[in-house]
Amino acid sequence: MAKGSSEWQAGSHANAITTLEKLVELWPNHLDGNFLLGSLYAQTGRLEEALLRLRKARELAPRSPQVANNLGNVFRMLGQNEDALDCYASAVKFDPRFSVGWMNLGLACTKLERWKDALESFARLGNPLSEDPDVLCAMGSAQAATGNTLAAINCYERALPSDADGRRNVKIILARLRGANSEDIPERHSDASVIAIYRNKAASWDADVAREQDSYFGPRLVAEVLGPRLSTMTTGSQTVLDLGCGTGACGDYLRPIASELVGVDLSPDMLTACGRKGLYDRLVEADIGRYLAEETNSFDIVVAAGVFILFSRLEGLLAAIRGRMKTEGVLAFTLYASANAAVEVRHNDHFGHSADYVRDGLTGTGWRLIELREIVHETEGGQPQRGFVVLAGT
Ligand SMILES: C[S@@+](CC[C@H](N)C(=O)[O-])C[C@H]1O[C@@H](n2cnc3c(N)ncnc32)[C@H](O)[C@@H]1O
Repeated sequence: MAKGSSEWQAGSHANAITTLEKLVELWPNHLDGNFLLGSLYAQTGRLEEALLRLRKARELAPRSPQVANNLGNVFRMLGQNEDALDCYASAVKFDPRFSVGWMNLGLACTKLERWKDALESFARLGNPLSEDPDVLCAMGSAQAATGNTLAAINCYERALPSDADGRRNVKIILARLRGANSEDIPERHSDASVIAIYRNKAASWDADVAREQDSYFGPRLVAEVLGPRLSTMTTGSQTVLDLGCGTGACGDYLRPIASELVGVDLSPDMLTACGRKGLYDRLVEADIGRYLAEETNSFDIVVAAGVFILFSRLEGLLAAIRGRMKTEGVLAFTLYASANAAVEVRHNDHFGHSADYVRDGLTGTGWRLIELREIVHETEGGQPQRGFVVLAGT
């Protein structure tokens, strides 16, 4: 046991696992052996094995806060949030001074949108856990959801120094909570934020796009607005650029008319899924702004389905795309509609734009607006999310 434990502490997970596996084979009811082995399996992503060992540990020590907490962690990693919450609730019942248990209970309640319970759990934390950036952001969302905007702002302000790479979108959330003017809204989601958001979405993206309920319509809308043009084009005649190509949902209808089809995206996970389809001639992992600044080829057709929603200001992008068009090129893209301002941060921390802002942005950067149509961009919890599909020409 001591050997396994010290191997773990020395960072040698593989050795520690081998030692602990031998131990529980010899003594299947060894509490610490099962507990440590389960916790190690969890750390190394072997979640089903972790569940087995930690359940055994709970059988052996049904009132241990640490065992309940670590079992909760495995449920959380498996996305079983209700089960995780039950474990954390047991952990703090067994030991009401168990801060890590209260923290995890608060985070689980936040995930399940049990805002009041979340705030009650976070109120039990002392320093330093109460200043943990994940806790501050969860507390901020719970405060905002219960109508305490000033308290929410205070939480996010405290989280801001820990969000230098923008992964948690703290600046964007603060702009939303403060009702900031367009010029005070961050220009776009950071690289780290985009990569994190789409890491979770890549696996289910194509199924989400194909779904009837709670679906996202970007690729279909772009296909529709381009439709009449696409049908008159000769097979393999166009150079095509798909900005924020994701898993390549636009690739199906772009491929037949493309002599060259280039996809650009920041998310390695979305690009991996895209690459598996074999539809694109070239896939580039980059921010679309940086890519456009370096690209020297020009294109007949550029599409951007559901990617400008991650940018607050569009003028720079529209100008850069315009600079990469052939003489008679077209650009098709989708956006969320802003209810009031030219640019707003929406409830989901993506950006919305007004029709006037889009029209002015296009004409100001040398585009001719062909069509701007109000559409439903997607449905969320059954609610239509309004937006625009836009077609512009050189
Ligand atoms: C809503 S998804 C749309 C994907 C695809 N166009 C579709 O309609 O299925 C947005 C995509 O834009 C990518 N993205 C977001 N910001 C980006 C940026 N700054 N540069 C490149 N790609 C970006 C994301 O990684 C994601 O794949």
